[in-house]
Amino acid sequence: MTDEGDVDSRGAPVIRTRRLTKEFPRVRALDDLDLTVGSGVTGLVGANGAGKSTMIKILLGLLPPTSGEAEVLGHDVRTEGAAIRARVGYMPEHDCLPGDVNASEFVVHMGRMSGLPHAVARERAADVLRHVGLAEERYREMGGYSTGMKQRAKLAQALVHDPDLVLLDEPTNGLDPTSREDMLDLVRRIGTDFGIAVLVTSHLLGELERVSDHVIVLDAGRLLRSSATSEFTETTGTLLVEVLGSATERDLLGNALAGRGLRCHPVAGAVEVLPPPDGLHEGSDVRDLVRDTVIDLDLGLVRIQEGRHRIQDVFAPPEEAMQP
Ligand SMILES: Nc1ncnc2c1ncn2[C@@H]1O[C@H](COP(=O)(O)OP(=O)(O)OP(=O)(O)O)[C@@H](O)[C@H]1O
Ligand SMILES: [Mg+2]
Repeated sequence: MTDEGDVDSRGAPVIRTRRLTKEFPRVRALDDLDLTVGSGVTGLVGANGAGKSTMIKILLGLLPPTSGEAEVLGHDVRTEGAAIRARVGYMPEHDCLPGDVNASEFVVHMGRMSGLPHAVARERAADVLRHVGLAEERYREMGGYSTGMKQRAKLAQALVHDPDLVLLDEPTNGLDPTSREDMLDLVRRIGTDFGIAVLVTSHLLGELERVSDHVIVLDAGRLLRSSATSEFTETTGTLLVEVLGSATERDLLGNALAGRGLRCHPVAGAVEVLPPPDGLHEGSDVRDLVRDTVIDLDLGLVRIQEGRHRIQDVFAPPEEAMQP
């Protein structure tokens, strides 16, 4: 990739959309989206029906947009779909594997379809199947595969032609927690070890935080947020205070802090203390006030730590404030 033109902080854009809109007869699946995706791993997050798969099919040139524009690796999705698909790997969301073929034959075939000579396709297929952890099962018919093995075979065929970008549609779908973590590690390594740009979708907001450099959140076809993962998780200026005991002790502390003029909310097992408005508690550190209150109430302090944003917070309604 070159660094020319309009670049973002992570290099030349791999994907760029402008006012991208897709309407189906009953629903507007994508609504006026301006997006820029750079190299590295980008998470595309949204609830069921948010428009993730529609976006991916448009980026592959398989589905025409209703209006607006989209470019992938510098190619126009409306007119250069074949050029895009030659350089992009795609892992579809649904099961698409022929049951009576083994993974080795299938991935070699997909490599041949992408234009690789037979010997090269065989070598690449063996490499990518080893990479996804299917080396031993590669001569078994895929109809007998578990969901986890099928997801791996789908990932292998997306990588066989050494693409510059892969579009992975819900690669963790149907996986148990351990397989999910393994799949996320594989996704991360596609980005870091092979330098292939990745756009990966999920409806689980928290799951992409660990593997993505950048996260895009869609809500009913609209862009809710697009930022570096570090911005999602930056410090909030709040303090999280946890005391020994149950919700009773937590609420006792929260109510007492509210009585001393601090704004607080319950957050899971802890009290979140918001930064005080300027002027209040001048000269007295909020941490000291929290410590004093814990001592006055004769509670056991477990921890005081700086609050950080979580990706989940993008959708979470604010908790009601605690009262004195
Ligand atoms: N071919 C189609 N015809 C009509 N409506 C469609 C079609 N494809 C998608 N839609 C609608 O567009 C919206 C977005 O669907 P899409 O499949 O892109 O969502 P998604 O984010 O991938 O959801 P999921 O997490 O369930 O896979 C939905 O309301 C869906 O019903
Ligand atoms: Mg989908």
